[in-house]
Amino acid sequence: MHIAIINGPNLNLLGKREPDIYGTLTYTELCQQLENFAKEQQITVTFFQSNHEGAIIDFIQDCPLTFDGIVINAAAYTHSSIALLDALLAVGLPTIEVHLSKIEEREDFRQISYLRQACLACYSGEGLVSYKKALLHLKNGEKC
Ligand code: DQA
Repeated sequence: MHIAIINGPNLNLLGKREPDIYGTLTYTELCQQLENFAKEQQITVTFFQSNHEGAIIDFIQDCPLTFDGIVINAAAYTHSSIALLDALLAVGLPTIEVHLSKIEEREDFRQISYLRQACLACYSGEGLVSYKKALLHLKNGEKC
């Protein structure tokens, strides 16, 4: 099983960016820890991060060539991008939405997820564990 883990804008700044909300793990450390976890689960992972909506869309469009599923933290694009939703619907791969912070308990504008209807589930508020649960969901085909 080969899964694409896509991260959107500003997540390259993890560790420095509002650590009280997003934690102290850097983006590189997050990827390393997820890679180790995935290996234990016999899952192959490939990471993609971009601050540019179009670059994320281009990457999603190519996903069916290589990947069996997608884990996506679209960051702020979650709350704004119909184009990302359309890209996920177009490729039709099993997709899980993740967030480091508990978006349900934050500002009103974070309560809308345009991506949600293209996703099997959403895991939020557990930092790295949100991503681990998403990988397990894709592996086992059920919510955890
Ligand atoms: C985020 C939550 C979003 O609302 C925010 O814009 C982010 C990160 C999270 O992982 O908690 O950039 O997706």
